[in-house]
Amino acid sequence: MLEIDGLVVRYGARAPVLRGVSLDVGGSGVVALLGSNGAGKTTLMRAVSGTLGLYGGGVTEGSVRFRGERITGADTARTVVQGLVQVPEGRHIFAGLTVEENLNAGALTVRSSAVRERTRRRMYELFPQLAERRRARGGTLSGGEQQMLAIARALMAQPRLLLLDEPSLGLAPRLVHLVGETIREISREGVPVLLVEQNAAMALSVADSACVLDLGRVVLSGPTDELAQSDDVRRLYLGADADAGQSAGGSAPRPGPGTGNTPTLSRWSG
Ligand SMILES: Nc1ncnc2c1ncn2[C@@H]1O[C@H](COP(=O)(O)OP(=O)(O)OP(=O)(O)O)[C@@H](O)[C@H]1O
Ligand SMILES: [Mg+2]
Repeated sequence: MLEIDGLVVRYGARAPVLRGVSLDVGGSGVVALLGSNGAGKTTLMRAVSGTLGLYGGGVTEGSVRFRGERITGADTARTVVQGLVQVPEGRHIFAGLTVEENLNAGALTVRSSAVRERTRRRMYELFPQLAERRRARGGTLSGGEQQMLAIARALMAQPRLLLLDEPSLGLAPRLVHLVGETIREISREGVPVLLVEQNAAMALSVADSACVLDLGRVVLSGPTDELAQSDDVRRLYLGADADAGQSAGGSAPRPGPGTGNTPTLSRWSG
């Protein structure tokens, strides 16, 4: 469904931030994109959703294809109509609009009022708290409710692929769990999800497959049950002391070609 091939992205004249990223997202399930701060996760999302230009970035090599069509460098208006809808990092709901107005704003590209109405009803079932607060202004919602609203607003656009950037950021553990459950539910209903997370435990618990981005390259990828067993992933992202006798501190080596010992994984040499 989404095919990213050899993608190189730069901001201005600086060194590339993505350095040849290839990644396929199929037509179902949840794919998690993991990586530490500054690895390039958000940049990859921007390249896919056509928002890179807004941040002074651009694709200098490689391609992004969605449903067989080349969309490299396409703008957001076009990618949304094609069914690629992003919930950006930091939510960005309309604080001055009510919950219901926020939802309606998500459906501007949907022509059929019957479809809009049906989807809105479904969103209120999926997020009962939003139904209770449908007349409340977005800015008065709690952080968790704002995240739910941002996801619901994106779903109003009838995505064929939902892009979620750090939906758990800043949320209490109970809400992180709820967001995870919601992501599973969305994918069960037939909308595939590309999920960017720093909370690797949550991401690995909801995703079917995952890949790890490090310094602009994909260094590990595979089914989540295999990745969760990987010493590198456990040590770096799950806080586990994977090797007896070795500390789980911050000085652990980054996963990459030639480091670590992860025979069960398909490794991408970059
Ligand atoms: N608009 C921008 N202009 C210049 N450099 C940028 C811009 N946005 C991001 N970068 C740089 O690109 C690199 C990757 O950033 P990006 O935001 O994609 O990482 P990330 O993996 O999403 O990190 P985080 O986990 O902190 O959200 C970083 O070095 C960052 O400083
Ligand atoms: Mg980010």
